[in-house]
Amino acid sequence: MSPAAATGPTLHRPALVVLDSPEAVATAVAARLLRHLATEPRPVLGLATGRTPLAVYDRLAAAHGTGTSFAAVQSFNLDEYVGLGASDPASFAHYMQRHFFDRVDIAAGQGRVPDGTGDPATVARDYEAAIAKAGGIGLQLLGIGTNGHIGFNEPGSAFDSRTRLVTLAESTRQANAPDFPRGTEVPREAITMGIGTILEARQILLVATGAAKAEALHAAFHAAPDPDCPASALQLHPRVEVICDCAAGRRLWSA
Ligand code: PGA
Repeated sequence: MSPAAATGPTLHRPALVVLDSPEAVATAVAARLLRHLATEPRPVLGLATGRTPLAVYDRLAAAHGTGTSFAAVQSFNLDEYVGLGASDPASFAHYMQRHFFDRVDIAAGQGRVPDGTGDPATVARDYEAAIAKAGGIGLQLLGIGTNGHIGFNEPGSAFDSRTRLVTLAESTRQANAPDFPRGTEVPREAITMGIGTILEARQILLVATGAAKAEALHAAFHAAPDPDCPASALQLHPRVEVICDCAAGRRLWSA
Protein backbone atom coordinates (compact mmCIF):
# COMPACT_ATOMS: atom_id res chain seq x y z
CA MET A 1 0.00 0.00 0.00
CA SER A 2 1.40 3.42 -0.85
CA PRO A 3 1.89 5.96 1.97
CA ALA A 4 -0.84 8.11 0.41
CA ALA A 5 -3.29 5.20 0.46
CA ALA A 6 -2.33 4.37 4.04
CA THR A 7 -3.22 7.88 5.20
CA GLY A 8 -6.16 8.46 2.84
CA PRO A 9 -9.77 8.82 3.90
CA THR A 10 -11.82 5.78 4.93
CA LEU A 11 -13.94 4.60 2.03
CA HIS A 12 -17.36 2.98 2.40
CA ARG A 13 -19.51 0.79 0.21
CA PRO A 14 -23.12 1.87 -0.12
CA ALA A 15 -26.01 -0.38 0.81
CA LEU A 16 -27.52 -1.44 -2.50
CA VAL A 17 -31.11 -2.23 -3.38
CA VAL A 18 -31.82 -3.20 -6.99
CA LEU A 19 -35.47 -3.51 -7.97
CA ASP A 20 -37.33 -4.62 -11.08
CA SER A 21 -38.86 -1.35 -12.18
CA PRO A 22 -38.82 2.43 -11.70
CA GLU A 23 -42.20 2.07 -9.98
CA ALA A 24 -40.75 -0.33 -7.42
CA VAL A 25 -37.84 2.08 -6.87
CA ALA A 26 -40.22 4.97 -6.23
CA THR A 27 -42.23 2.89 -3.78
CA ALA A 28 -39.08 1.85 -1.88
CA VAL A 29 -37.69 5.39 -1.79
CA ALA A 30 -40.99 6.82 -0.55
CA ALA A 31 -41.09 4.12 2.12
CA ARG A 32 -37.59 5.10 3.30
CA LEU A 33 -38.57 8.75 3.51
CA LEU A 34 -41.80 7.95 5.36
CA ARG A 35 -39.92 5.74 7.80
CA HIS A 36 -37.53 8.63 8.47
CA LEU A 37 -40.47 10.94 9.14
CA ALA A 38 -42.00 8.37 11.48
CA THR A 39 -38.86 8.11 13.58
CA GLU A 40 -37.72 11.76 13.68
CA PRO A 41 -39.72 14.27 15.71
CA ARG A 42 -38.35 17.20 13.65
CA PRO A 43 -37.30 15.73 10.32
CA VAL A 44 -35.01 17.72 8.03
CA LEU A 45 -34.97 16.37 4.49
CA GLY A 46 -32.70 17.21 1.60
CA LEU A 47 -34.79 17.01 -1.58
CA ALA A 48 -34.11 16.70 -5.29
CA THR A 49 -35.83 17.60 -8.54
CA GLY A 50 -35.63 16.00 -11.99
CA ARG A 51 -37.57 13.17 -13.57
CA THR A 52 -36.47 10.42 -11.17
CA PRO A 53 -38.15 11.73 -7.97
CA LEU A 54 -41.50 12.57 -9.61
CA ALA A 55 -43.02 9.18 -8.78
CA VAL A 56 -41.61 9.46 -5.25
CA TYR A 57 -43.50 12.74 -4.71
CA ASP A 58 -46.65 11.08 -6.07
CA ARG A 59 -46.33 8.40 -3.41
CA LEU A 60 -45.65 10.92 -0.64
CA ALA A 61 -48.73 12.89 -1.72
CA ALA A 62 -50.74 9.65 -1.65
CA ALA A 63 -49.42 8.95 1.86
CA HIS A 64 -50.62 12.40 2.91
CA GLY A 65 -54.03 11.50 1.46
CA THR A 66 -54.20 8.55 3.81
CA GLY A 67 -53.16 10.46 6.93
CA THR A 68 -49.40 11.08 6.94
CA SER A 69 -48.60 14.60 8.08
CA PHE A 70 -45.63 16.60 6.82
CA ALA A 71 -46.37 19.48 9.21
CA ALA A 72 -43.17 18.94 11.21
CA VAL A 73 -40.93 18.60 8.13
CA GLN A 74 -38.32 21.09 7.04
CA SER A 75 -36.71 20.53 3.66
CA PHE A 76 -33.85 21.93 1.63
CA ASN A 77 -33.62 21.37 -2.10
CA LEU A 78 -30.30 20.78 -3.75
CA ASP A 79 -30.29 23.45 -6.39
CA GLU A 80 -31.90 26.13 -8.55
CA TYR A 81 -31.20 27.88 -11.83
CA VAL A 82 -29.80 31.38 -11.55
CA GLY A 83 -32.32 33.93 -12.77
CA LEU A 84 -35.44 31.80 -12.30
CA GLY A 85 -37.99 32.63 -9.61
CA ALA A 86 -40.76 30.47 -8.15
CA SER A 87 -43.31 31.81 -10.65
CA ASP A 88 -41.28 30.47 -13.59
CA PRO A 89 -42.62 27.00 -14.52
CA ALA A 90 -39.08 25.84 -15.39
CA SER A 91 -37.70 26.72 -11.95
CA PHE A 92 -37.09 24.04 -9.36
CA ALA A 93 -39.05 26.14 -6.85
CA HIS A 94 -42.08 25.83 -9.14
CA TYR A 95 -41.45 22.10 -9.61
CA MET A 96 -41.38 21.56 -5.84
CA GLN A 97 -44.56 23.58 -5.28
CA ARG A 98 -46.38 21.68 -8.03
CA HIS A 99 -45.16 18.17 -7.33
CA PHE A 100 -44.79 18.18 -3.55
CA PHE A 101 -45.32 21.23 -1.34
CA ASP A 102 -48.83 22.04 -2.63
CA ARG A 103 -49.92 18.41 -2.24
CA VAL A 104 -49.00 17.93 1.43
CA ASP A 105 -49.31 19.92 4.66
CA ILE A 106 -45.69 21.10 4.95
CA ALA A 107 -45.78 24.48 6.73
CA ALA A 108 -45.40 27.61 4.61
CA GLY A 109 -41.75 28.51 4.20
CA GLN A 110 -40.50 25.17 5.56
CA GLY A 111 -39.83 23.69 2.11
CA ARG A 112 -36.85 25.65 0.89
CA VAL A 113 -35.24 25.97 -2.53
CA PRO A 114 -32.24 28.26 -3.14
CA ASP A 115 -33.53 31.61 -4.46
CA GLY A 116 -32.44 31.84 -8.08
CA THR A 117 -33.27 35.56 -8.21
CA GLY A 118 -31.11 36.74 -5.31
CA ASP A 119 -27.44 37.66 -5.18
CA PRO A 120 -25.87 34.18 -5.51
CA ALA A 121 -23.18 34.67 -2.86
CA THR A 122 -25.74 35.92 -0.33
CA VAL A 123 -28.24 33.20 -1.22
CA ALA A 124 -25.55 30.54 -0.82
CA ARG A 125 -24.34 31.86 2.53
CA ASP A 126 -27.89 32.18 3.91
CA TYR A 127 -28.77 28.69 2.67
CA GLU A 128 -25.86 27.10 4.52
CA ALA A 129 -26.84 29.06 7.63
CA ALA A 130 -30.47 27.92 7.36
CA ILE A 131 -29.40 24.26 7.05
CA ALA A 132 -27.19 24.63 10.11
CA LYS A 133 -29.98 26.38 12.06
CA ALA A 134 -32.33 23.47 11.25
CA GLY A 135 -29.78 21.13 12.83
CA GLY A 136 -28.39 19.76 9.56
CA ILE A 137 -30.00 17.44 7.05
CA GLY A 138 -31.12 14.07 8.41
CA LEU A 139 -31.85 12.32 5.11
CA GLN A 140 -30.73 13.58 1.71
CA LEU A 141 -32.46 12.38 -1.45
CA LEU A 142 -30.13 12.47 -4.46
CA GLY A 143 -30.36 11.72 -8.16
CA ILE A 144 -27.33 11.29 -10.38
CA GLY A 145 -26.62 12.91 -13.73
CA THR A 146 -25.39 10.89 -16.70
CA ASN A 147 -22.08 12.73 -16.15
CA GLY A 148 -22.02 11.71 -12.48
CA HIS A 149 -23.16 15.04 -11.09
CA ILE A 150 -24.99 15.25 -7.75
CA GLY A 151 -27.08 18.35 -7.32
CA PHE A 152 -25.49 20.67 -9.87
CA ASN A 153 -21.98 19.73 -8.76
CA GLU A 154 -20.57 19.03 -12.20
CA PRO A 155 -17.38 17.02 -12.87
CA GLY A 156 -14.38 18.79 -11.35
CA SER A 157 -16.29 20.04 -8.30
CA ALA A 158 -14.25 19.87 -5.10
CA PHE A 159 -15.37 17.29 -2.58
CA ASP A 160 -15.32 19.95 0.15
CA SER A 161 -17.33 22.47 -1.89
CA ARG A 162 -20.15 24.36 -0.20
CA THR A 163 -23.37 25.91 -1.53
CA ARG A 164 -22.29 28.22 -4.34
CA LEU A 165 -22.74 29.61 -7.83
CA VAL A 166 -21.78 27.08 -10.53
CA THR A 167 -21.64 26.90 -14.32
CA LEU A 168 -23.70 24.07 -15.78
CA ALA A 169 -22.12 21.44 -18.02
CA GLU A 170 -23.35 21.49 -21.61
CA SER A 171 -24.60 17.91 -21.20
CA THR A 172 -26.70 19.00 -18.21
CA ARG A 173 -28.20 21.91 -20.15
CA GLN A 174 -29.09 19.55 -22.99
CA ALA A 175 -30.55 16.93 -20.64
CA ASN A 176 -32.76 19.55 -18.99
CA ALA A 177 -33.76 21.42 -22.18
CA PRO A 178 -37.13 19.57 -22.39
CA ASP A 179 -38.18 21.36 -19.18
CA PHE A 180 -37.96 24.72 -20.96
CA PRO A 181 -40.31 26.15 -23.57
CA ARG A 182 -39.07 25.74 -27.14
CA GLY A 183 -36.76 28.57 -28.08
CA THR A 184 -35.90 29.39 -24.45
CA GLU A 185 -32.28 29.06 -23.39
CA VAL A 186 -31.52 26.78 -20.45
CA PRO A 187 -29.71 28.99 -17.89
CA ARG A 188 -25.95 28.64 -17.87
CA GLU A 189 -25.57 29.04 -14.13
CA ALA A 190 -27.11 27.62 -10.99
CA ILE A 191 -26.82 27.66 -7.22
CA THR A 192 -26.18 24.24 -5.76
CA MET A 193 -25.48 22.74 -2.39
CA GLY A 194 -21.83 21.74 -2.44
CA ILE A 195 -20.51 18.21 -2.26
CA GLY A 196 -19.20 19.02 1.22
CA THR A 197 -22.68 20.22 2.19
CA ILE A 198 -24.27 17.03 0.85
CA LEU A 199 -21.75 14.83 2.66
CA GLU A 200 -22.78 16.39 5.99
CA ALA A 201 -26.27 14.83 5.72
CA ARG A 202 -26.58 12.04 8.28
CA GLN A 203 -27.97 9.59 5.69
CA ILE A 204 -28.00 9.74 1.89
CA LEU A 205 -30.37 7.99 -0.50
CA LEU A 206 -29.11 7.89 -4.09
CA VAL A 207 -31.81 7.01 -6.59
CA ALA A 208 -31.26 6.04 -10.22
CA THR A 209 -33.51 4.53 -12.86
CA GLY A 210 -32.99 3.71 -16.52
CA ALA A 211 -30.10 2.47 -18.63
CA ALA A 212 -28.79 6.00 -19.20
CA LYS A 213 -27.61 6.07 -15.55
CA ALA A 214 -25.76 2.73 -15.63
CA GLU A 215 -22.34 4.16 -16.54
CA ALA A 216 -22.51 6.99 -14.02
CA LEU A 217 -23.55 4.63 -11.23
CA HIS A 218 -20.71 2.27 -12.11
CA ALA A 219 -18.19 5.12 -12.20
CA ALA A 220 -19.38 6.36 -8.80
CA PHE A 221 -18.59 3.17 -6.92
CA HIS A 222 -16.07 1.11 -8.91
CA ALA A 223 -12.95 3.26 -8.67
CA ALA A 224 -11.35 5.48 -6.07
CA PRO A 225 -13.23 8.75 -5.48
CA ASP A 226 -12.34 11.22 -8.21
CA PRO A 227 -13.76 14.73 -8.78
CA ASP A 228 -14.28 13.73 -12.43
CA CYS A 229 -17.25 11.74 -11.10
CA PRO A 230 -18.81 13.88 -8.36
CA ALA A 231 -21.02 11.02 -7.13
CA SER A 232 -17.89 9.03 -6.28
CA ALA A 233 -17.55 11.37 -3.26
CA LEU A 234 -20.37 9.33 -1.73
CA GLN A 235 -17.79 6.64 -0.97
CA LEU A 236 -16.57 9.00 1.77
CA HIS A 237 -19.94 8.75 3.56
CA PRO A 238 -20.70 5.84 5.91
CA ARG A 239 -24.49 5.82 5.43
CA VAL A 240 -25.34 5.85 1.74
CA GLU A 241 -28.08 3.68 0.30
CA VAL A 242 -28.40 3.26 -3.48
CA ILE A 243 -31.86 2.31 -4.69
CA CYS A 244 -31.97 1.66 -8.42
CA ASP A 245 -33.74 -0.39 -11.04
CA CYS A 246 -32.07 -3.24 -12.96
CA ALA A 247 -31.41 -1.00 -15.97
CA ALA A 248 -29.44 1.57 -13.95
CA GLY A 249 -27.77 -1.09 -11.80
CA ARG A 250 -26.73 -3.46 -14.55
CA ARG A 251 -23.05 -2.45 -14.49
CA LEU A 252 -22.67 -2.47 -10.72
CA TRP A 253 -21.47 -6.07 -10.77
CA SER A 254 -19.00 -5.78 -13.64
CA ALA A 255 -15.46 -4.41 -13.45
P1 PGA B 1 -33.10 13.17 -13.63
O1 PGA B 1 -31.96 14.11 -13.09
O2 PGA B 1 -33.81 12.60 -12.45
O3 PGA B 1 -34.00 14.08 -14.41
O4 PGA B 1 -32.46 12.11 -14.47
C1 PGA B 1 -31.03 13.62 -12.15
C2 PGA B 1 -29.89 14.57 -12.05
O5 PGA B 1 -29.48 15.17 -13.06
O6 PGA B 1 -29.36 14.71 -10.94
